[in-house]
Amino acid sequence: MKIGIDKIGFFTSNYYLDMVDLANARGEDPNKYLIGIGQKQQAVIPPTQDVVTMAANAAEKILTDEDKQSIDMVVFGTETGVDNSKSAAIYVQSLLGISSSARSFEIKQACYGGTAGVQMAADHIAMHPDSKVLVLAADIARYGIKTPGEVTQGGGAIAMLLSVDPRILVLDNQSAFHSENIMDFWRPFYKREAIVDGHYSTDIYIDFFNKTFKDYCDKFGRSLTDFSALVYHLPFTKMGLKALRTVVDDSPHSQKLLKAFDQSKQYNAHVGNLYTGSLYLSLLSLLSNSTDLHANDRIGLFSYGSGAQGEFYSATIAETMDSRRLASQVDSVLSDRIKLSVPEYEKMYADGLPINGGNVTFDAANDHSRFVLLGRKADQLV
Ligand code: CAA
Repeated sequence: MKIGIDKIGFFTSNYYLDMVDLANARGEDPNKYLIGIGQKQQAVIPPTQDVVTMAANAAEKILTDEDKQSIDMVVFGTETGVDNSKSAAIYVQSLLGISSSARSFEIKQACYGGTAGVQMAADHIAMHPDSKVLVLAADIARYGIKTPGEVTQGGGAIAMLLSVDPRILVLDNQSAFHSENIMDFWRPFYKREAIVDGHYSTDIYIDFFNKTFKDYCDKFGRSLTDFSALVYHLPFTKMGLKALRTVVDDSPHSQKLLKAFDQSKQYNAHVGNLYTGSLYLSLLSLLSNSTDLHANDRIGLFSYGSGAQGEFYSATIAETMDSRRLASQVDSVLSDRIKLSVPEYEKMYADGLPINGGNVTFDAANDHSRFVLLGRKADQLV
């Protein structure tokens, strides 16, 4: 039985900041951000979007009415939840009119939550082949104005529909995992910004990639040449490149993998970090921008969530995967964005969340999102 990703949708804010403008405002050489970090633009998330609205906007693009009735599980991976108790999945299920017979819940392990959802969905479908599972991965990455992490902010959502006989990616059901209690990045309840030791986190990420990739190859008798591409969780695109560089050499196959990596980072370089969704935006970038991939080609996916959990797993390209269709969906989101000046970004960054019905200015003329957040009543049932 073939199980995997049948549809994939993407959404991000329609505001962005250019990294050359940010570098100039922070007194840095623009090439540090463009080449050293590998980011060109970053999504700026307005107070009118949270993970619920972003995920609903991503899912709405891909789901038919028939899908909404067939979905029997909604899994929401996020580390930017809107409530300590009630899951973001329930809100999305209701906003989209997904069948109330579905099981809906949220899962958390930093940026790994999206992959946990994908693997849980695949196991569920293996037991219940008629089911369809909606996996949502949405986050807002905030580090703070004038901090080293500022250049690696971003946000957005990925929605994936998993089923049997998938039209995009067939999962191999072959994975290797590694987890350890590590304090490289965390988000305490009292803060809106992440606490991160970026250099340490990069070292751990590379170490977890090496461990899980080796374990995967040992378990399943594979090596680098079995893969047409490797895609990575990309907090910033240079981070994935550093991990890839630890396993490639001067061979033609390694050059092919480096070329595929360039294609897999295109969208991430324009959106920034989506945390749980980053690996899947990179997958979308590879599938949309590659001219060399063919049906049945095997790709490896490295997922990492600080704290820390790593997983390397593999999948093959479905016969029906349609690059142009995937690309046109992302291109329409990215081309419909408004560039902010640095002062405009700083003001939007400082704007509070609309708790207790606080007033939010919604720019209806420029914002074409289907779902927006206009206020939240924290102490009432609404
Ligand atoms: N031209 C080209 N390159 C230049 C340059 C120039 N003029 N100036 C500097 N560079 C290069 C440097 O050589 C360096 O390259 P290498 O890393 O290849 O050596 C690179 O630019 C960055 O320079 P620094 O290391 O000096 O940068 P920094 O100390 O200011 O910070 C950072 C970089 C550590 C990545 C910082 O941005 C950061 O902490 N970001 C957040 C980190 C992060 O996202 N971690 C991920 C955690 S995983 C995750 O997503 C969380 C999760 O699970 C939820």
